[in-house]
Amino acid sequence: MTDSNDEVNPRIVERTSTKVVDPKFNCNITVSKMKRTSHVLSKNYDLKRYLDSAKWTFAPEISELIPKDTPAYIDNGEKYVERIARALEFFRQCALIGPSGTGKTHIVYLVAELAGLPLWEINCGLQTSVFDLFGRYVGLGKENWIDGLITSWCRYGGILYLDEANMMKQDIATRLNPILDQRGHMVLTEKDNEIIQRHKDAFLIISMNPVSSEFAGTKPINAAMRRRMSVWLNFDYMSVGTKIDQKEIDLVVRKTGVSQKDAEIIIKVGAELRKQYKTGELPYGPSVGDLINWAKIIADGTSLLDAADETIVSLTSDDHEIQGIVRKIIKKTAEM
Ligand SMILES: Nc1ncnc2c1ncn2[C@@H]1O[C@H](COP(=O)(O)OP(=O)(O)OP(=O)(O)O)[C@@H](O)[C@H]1O
Ligand SMILES: [Mg+2]
Repeated sequence: MTDSNDEVNPRIVERTSTKVVDPKFNCNITVSKMKRTSHVLSKNYDLKRYLDSAKWTFAPEISELIPKDTPAYIDNGEKYVERIARALEFFRQCALIGPSGTGKTHIVYLVAELAGLPLWEINCGLQTSVFDLFGRYVGLGKENWIDGLITSWCRYGGILYLDEANMMKQDIATRLNPILDQRGHMVLTEKDNEIIQRHKDAFLIISMNPVSSEFAGTKPINAAMRRRMSVWLNFDYMSVGTKIDQKEIDLVVRKTGVSQKDAEIIIKVGAELRKQYKTGELPYGPSVGDLINWAKIIADGTSLLDAADETIVSLTSDDHEIQGIVRKIIKKTAEM
């Protein structure tokens, strides 16, 4: 894959936004509908070899959950899209590991779009209630049951994406385990122990930050879930420390119109902040999206430092001392 596909998004002829509230899925979904002249994006990935959208059997309602217009993912020949597709085809589930902002969520959206798979997304760090995840009664009588997100995914299929899976509460993780065995099913204890077979096209992707001595604030995923994941894919920043990726510099230039020189400083600063984040010295490492935001303010005529104050400095922390460290890194890099 090359970064040239960044420009070949599907051409949009018409865009309308509709809010779909489907009680069956117990969630409000904002859907962007668009007509396309062609779907150029898919040509850049060899996905059909593993995931063939012609094989899916979904209820038409959930096709609303297939992501659209996901930007291209830039990599250095790692073939992440194909490897995720292969893991899903072979094992139906896989894990993505990498620091914050390395594009894990981005690539899941891309795979879902290219494969034509509805996406159910849960951030496990947000302490979503068991009711929201599994379901609940909203009135008297059996017909007043509403499926939660995980139940809907199990019943209707698509990709369930569990972000920050290591933050998942133990009781939820325990209930997921039987679903994740090869011929999985789930038991709705809340609903007379109804047994729901895992839909034949129900795939699971979990993601999390790496756990290592140098990585602050992470905890390991529980052993039962770890055992049920067959494939683990590692993600990292394009540029980190002294390793600077020209493709990331080019992306910033292309997306914002800043000069090569400014883009180079931005990426070098980003790479240093990421290094310090990975060693636990800073609380946050910027994604390429964060650096692009900084560059956009510069491209509008603001100085490098003032633009940084509005974006990257405040983003890293509210703590004045830490903000001072970030400013120092920027000044030092700009003077080099
Ligand atoms: N290789 C890449 N190509 C294109 N865009 C990227 C790439 N990596 C990251 N990005 C962009 O950086 C931003 C952060 O990416 P994303 O949210 O997917 O990271 P993440 O790994 O899911 O982070 P977190 O662990 O915090 O959830 C997004 O705007 C994404 O589009
Ligand atoms: Mg994410």
